[in-house]
Amino acid sequence: MVDYLWMWSELIVRWVHVIAGIAWIGSSFYFIALDLSLKPGKELPDEAHGQAWQVHGGGFYNMVKYLVAPAKMPDELTWFKWEAYGTWISGIALMSLVYYGAASLYMIDLEILDITEIQAVMISLAGIVISWALYDGLCRSPLGKSDLWLALAGFVFLVLLAFGYSLIFSARGAFMQMGVTIGTIMVANVLMIIIPGQTRVVTALKAGKTPDPRHGARGKQRSLHNNYLTLPVIFVMIGGHYPAVFATDYAWGILALVLITGAVIRHFFNTKHKGLAPPWWTWLVAAILAGFAISLSHLGAPNMEYDKTAHASPTALHNASIELVIERCSSCHAREPLWDGLAFAPKGVYLENKSDVLRHANDIFWQAAASHAMPPGQVIWIEDEERAMLAAWRNMINHGLVDRDS
Ligand code: HEC
Repeated sequence: MVDYLWMWSELIVRWVHVIAGIAWIGSSFYFIALDLSLKPGKELPDEAHGQAWQVHGGGFYNMVKYLVAPAKMPDELTWFKWEAYGTWISGIALMSLVYYGAASLYMIDLEILDITEIQAVMISLAGIVISWALYDGLCRSPLGKSDLWLALAGFVFLVLLAFGYSLIFSARGAFMQMGVTIGTIMVANVLMIIIPGQTRVVTALKAGKTPDPRHGARGKQRSLHNNYLTLPVIFVMIGGHYPAVFATDYAWGILALVLITGAVIRHFFNTKHKGLAPPWWTWLVAAILAGFAISLSHLGAPNMEYDKTAHASPTALHNASIELVIERCSSCHAREPLWDGLAFAPKGVYLENKSDVLRHANDIFWQAAASHAMPPGQVIWIEDEERAMLAAWRNMINHGLVDRDS
């Protein structure tokens, strides 16, 4: 019963996380597009910055933006902040349930760094807090006066961070740690800069004072960062399920390309929403960058040179591969796993007998041949030559070169 409670709590927290994330990103994309589409109008009050007409759900909306504030503060104001906070709270809960709760499988790779589970969790949390402090420091430094230089410095910072994490955590742990770090920076921008700034403006206005324009400028800069970081952060959340993305030697390089690709795609939509000619070239750049990312994931894969003399016949290769998978994988991937702490075979994948293994030939290729994703954290060792053998075996099966039942 306890196992079911854990499984369900993970599912429910994941559900909340996705819903909160959709609400946050949805409202954020909506307001960016709205902001960019505002046009001046003669009939608007003096303090108004612009307006937009929209049609949705059977009615027309006339949105008016007041840049500093309206002459009289409205009695009721809707704030947008719980979408961001909810995403972070559910996200850190999910990180704790999945990654911190099984750090030896998800965070640690003893071949990379010999750390205990507690150390892994502490380093992860410290990494998140320190990264925010460094990022915030960059924004407040003289570099912060230029959006372009700040963006470049921020990019270099994130790539170095990804590289640094890859020297500490397992491939999968490092990748998710990057997602959580960027996500936290975005939420901290809302919690520590944007909302407090906005609150001070409202308080000043209510007291009949002129608000300090620096709050608005700072909030706008952080919002711009959040805008450009949204797509990469979602990529990391999804990419953590694709071993050829995170469990290869150049995962940090792929991340660097994704940061630029996400920014370039946002640029397309931002320009389009401004009502300017859409910069179609951005899609070409995105496609070229995706091509580089694909090459990196291939280049960073384990060496797949298979020694053809190692097995006398296709059947010998077939049997050796099945035997290898059962031997190295079935302690976890069994109907009744032997691995301490595992109540169910992870993801319902059984690798205990020949038909199990054959059913998962492609998954085995991606998890254990084209990447180092499995066994997680290399808790059970597999030589690169053995991974190469699995790749050759999968190829052979897909080309029908061996009778699957032989
Ligand atoms: C120490 C335990 C352990 C061992 C040994 C192990 N795995 Fe896994 N495996 C896991 C865990 C944990 C997950 C779930 C990962 C996740 O949450 O995405 C998993 C997931 C998988 C998946 C499903 C991936 C998905 O996202 O659907 C496949 C396929 C897989 N393992 C193959 C293998 C192969 C092949 C081997 C042997 C080379 C192996 N595993 C060895 C723990 C193990």
